[in-house]
Amino acid sequence: MKPNHEKLIIEGGYPLFGEVPINGAKNAAVAVIPAALMTEGESIIENLPLIEDVFAMDDILLRLGAKIEYDNHSLKIDASNLQSYVAPYESVRKIRASYYLIGALLTRFGKAEVAMPGGCNFGARPIDQHIKGFRALGADVKIENGMIKAYAEELVGTKIYLDVVSVGATINLMLAAVKAKGTTIIENAAKEPHVVDVANFLNAMGAKIKGAGTDVIRIEGVKTLHPTRYAIIPDQIEAGTYMIAACATKGHIIVKNIIPKHLESLTAKLLEMGAEVNVFEDSIEVRCKERLRASSIKTMPYPGFPTDLQPQMTVLLSLCSGTSIVTEGVWENRYQYVDELKKMGANIKVEGRVAVVEGVESLQGAEVVAVDLRAGAALIVAGLAAKGKTVIYNTKNVDRGYENIDYKLKLLGAKISRV
Ligand code: EPU
Repeated sequence: MKPNHEKLIIEGGYPLFGEVPINGAKNAAVAVIPAALMTEGESIIENLPLIEDVFAMDDILLRLGAKIEYDNHSLKIDASNLQSYVAPYESVRKIRASYYLIGALLTRFGKAEVAMPGGCNFGARPIDQHIKGFRALGADVKIENGMIKAYAEELVGTKIYLDVVSVGATINLMLAAVKAKGTTIIENAAKEPHVVDVANFLNAMGAKIKGAGTDVIRIEGVKTLHPTRYAIIPDQIEAGTYMIAACATKGHIIVKNIIPKHLESLTAKLLEMGAEVNVFEDSIEVRCKERLRASSIKTMPYPGFPTDLQPQMTVLLSLCSGTSIVTEGVWENRYQYVDELKKMGANIKVEGRVAVVEGVESLQGAEVVAVDLRAGAALIVAGLAAKGKTVIYNTKNVDRGYENIDYKLKLLGAKISRV
């Protein structure tokens, strides 16, 4: 069932209490789904989050001629009769991760035509490293009328050094290299848990990938791939968002069904700020009784502090005692939510990639707009902690990455409704 995404209304000031189960990782799901197109037959992907970005990827698959069938959080993908290697703008505009179709369709057909992707706007989002890698593997790549067109008679393994650590380029080049002739080595690769998850999925399909999770990934090309059944890892960003919300509301929650290791940078930071954090095998308990202390964060590729938790963390820092410094080390412009947060009483000055956050005693409810996915999550955290009523518009941005966020928060005691 697709949610109605008009606006969220939050009556703030109620601490979150209870347990919250975490769904599968968005950024793994949106890569694993197109990867399932690389072979004929039926693959089953389990633990898929039921979110708008996944539904957008499903739509693209249907248009390309794949068959899909849901059973709760499992998705059966039958790519036997895939007919097309062309994904025009109207089908990819909603989702950034549509660039994974280039790697996947190159492997399946030796050709791919995919429109330049949409997604959140954080300033320039180049894909030059993807293109450089496809070319190094022997593809002819050109950009024409807003379409990225890649053709390869044969893909041949090679060494590719990424000039920037890019999750998207690392995954896309793994997709393109799995059936390339010989060995591909990706150097300066991204190490995010979802990079490892996609490599594990590909290996379950018969690929030979080693080193995912380190900065050198080695791929021995194989002749054939086969369908598989695979469960996606838990979403560390969803888990982190709830942990931060618990602290911002001085609550006490347990995030469940997670891999705590993936959240080490956040748990360390919350402990440093004065929260109580207990780590178990597949859950984390967070309790916060008092106002936390200011701190500084710098977002970096994994295992650094994730940029996808920066907006939510900035909200928490805006409620701490003292001055915090936030440095955005991944995206050029990921502070567009700050103007909305200021409407709620936050005291934040942004200068380029740095935000100076002067802690305030409390935030006040206001009417605000979710300018992008994590901005929307951050405003929800702010609304839960604020005094009075917050109305958040454009919540379809939040539904892109969080399954049933209002329902889950209600179960934790939040006064939140969707209108
Ligand atoms: N970059 C380049 N050239 C490239 C690719 C990237 O210069 O060819 C730069 C980017 O401009 C950026 C940095 O490298 O400054 C990192 O970009 P990356 O490629 O890692 O980002 P992405 O793959 O496009 C994914 C997530 C983002 C997340 C980033 C960083 C997906 C679908 N998206 O984007 O998630 O912020 O990695 O971890 O996996 C989100 O979930 O809210 C979200 C935006």
